[in-house]
Amino acid sequence: MSIQLEKVKELIQLREKARLGGGEKRIESQHLKGKYTARERLAMLLDEGSFEEFDMFVEHRCHNFGMEKTKFLGDGVVTGYGTIQGRLVYVFAQDFTVSGGSLSEMQSQKICKVMDQAMKMGAPLIGINDSGGARIQEGINALAGYAEIFQRNILASGVIPQISGIFGPCAGGAVYSPALTDFNIMTQGTSYMFLTGPKVVKTVTGEDVTQEQLGGASVHTSKSGVAHFSAQTEEDAIQMIQKLLSYIPQNNLEEPPVFKSSDPIDRLEDGLNEIIPDSANKPYDMYEIIGAIVDSGEFLEVHADYAKNIIVGFARFNGQSVGIVANQPKFLAGVLDINASRKAARFVRFCDAFNIPIVSLVDVPGFLPGTGQEYGGVITHGAKLLYAYGEATVPKVTVTLRKSYGGAHIVMSCKQLRGDINYAWPSAEIAVMGAEGAVEVLYSKEIAAEKDPEKLAVVLEEKKKEYNDLFTNPYEAARYGYIDDVIEPRNTRFRVIRALQQLQTKKLTNPPKKHDNLPL
Ligand code: HXC
Repeated sequence: MSIQLEKVKELIQLREKARLGGGEKRIESQHLKGKYTARERLAMLLDEGSFEEFDMFVEHRCHNFGMEKTKFLGDGVVTGYGTIQGRLVYVFAQDFTVSGGSLSEMQSQKICKVMDQAMKMGAPLIGINDSGGARIQEGINALAGYAEIFQRNILASGVIPQISGIFGPCAGGAVYSPALTDFNIMTQGTSYMFLTGPKVVKTVTGEDVTQEQLGGASVHTSKSGVAHFSAQTEEDAIQMIQKLLSYIPQNNLEEPPVFKSSDPIDRLEDGLNEIIPDSANKPYDMYEIIGAIVDSGEFLEVHADYAKNIIVGFARFNGQSVGIVANQPKFLAGVLDINASRKAARFVRFCDAFNIPIVSLVDVPGFLPGTGQEYGGVITHGAKLLYAYGEATVPKVTVTLRKSYGGAHIVMSCKQLRGDINYAWPSAEIAVMGAEGAVEVLYSKEIAAEKDPEKLAVVLEEKKKEYNDLFTNPYEAARYGYIDDVIEPRNTRFRVIRALQQLQTKKLTNPPKKHDNLPL
């Protein structure tokens, strides 16, 4: 065998060794936990044969605690690039079979390399987290490694889409990289995220809590809102990532991909002309309306289990990607509160950063009153959504279906927040407040003076009617041009598509500034 051939053989052997990560036994133990290995995950995520790996031969250079004797090629993370549906993406997947995927100085350098490449190339970054956190033996070098990653997450924010899959442990400061990215997807039963684990919680607060109760997928998708999606299996989670990417552009200078739609743009939905219940206090399901108007009824909901009083997610109109923000009358009457405001604000800002038009469907009775909300800072949190809509320069189409009251009317992409096209259904009620509350305020003296309850009831009904006739309709707003048109509900799909087509060349910029000071 020639010297060159021998060297080639050595390379092949080294590659095989690197592909085994921490070895057969640890791979088996990973499988026994119901988890795939880093390489298996990337193989599922990327188009077949598209993966090009970097830094397969990287090793740590730590000598503490006898670490010089335990070195594994690749050092606990698989990095590189590939394609998803033919589009370039940069990826890293932590390899739990090597030191529990813990983050070392060299692992950080590998991750930072793909982050830098992703930024140079203007392509999305997808990270799959499965790690015991900072490599304990490396001390401050591991912490520095995290900080290097966080700094890049920050600079990449709003430039390239960043998606985190949490497919195993993600604890301690490690949680901050996913927290800085745009979307987090957790697997149910096998992933958890927390700053301090159950043992520390017990010591500090005395609480007995399991890892699942503290930071499992259901906690973060329904209670904290830290995760946007959860999936039962890793396969499902990977499909979600692929689907999510199909709605978003490669970077902030590009447009989202356009797909050919077989759904006619002028499809009428007669049912929508009768969907609003006669009683203003009766709910209906906003999902029905979204499903009826978007292409083929396909909607990728974000944060489906968190703050259900507002719905956000991606859909398409005539093949064009949009972000949908819709109040949900079926949940807390669609009221805006702290969590709903935060959820929608972050979504609106994502859409605006990545050139995705926003379609808002409005049926909102107002902001949730009470000490709980006020003490929690609903003023600041509500202002986040107001700010997000007001600063957004992407096309904004708003359809008011029913209630649109008070501050919530303004917040939900009204005309003066640079709403481009604002439509209303004939059932819309656009006013400072509902008739009940308005009459109580306007006629408080008369109400106090009237001792006969029957007479009072008659007077109140009269006043409410007067108020409703004047304000509880879309025409008062349309009279001033605050509503561009009152549309037939069954025509909504067509009218929204027309509006979006018209807005395709929209150009609007905000004043130059170092950065804004949004109400965090
Ligand atoms: C070095 C680690 C490690 C770590 C795990 N391992 N975590 N090595 N540094 N942080 C190693 C284990 O020694 C073991 O090595 C292998 O990974 C698998 O770990 P197991 O414990 O056997 O696995 P399992 O039972 O599944 O438990 C997983 C785990 C547990 C829950 C993640 O390993 C764990 O609690 N690890 C420590 C978590 C932690 O406290 N990390 C620091 C957080 S603070 P062998 O050789 O036996 O296979 C932090 C600060 C970051 O991260 C700050 C950033 C700003």
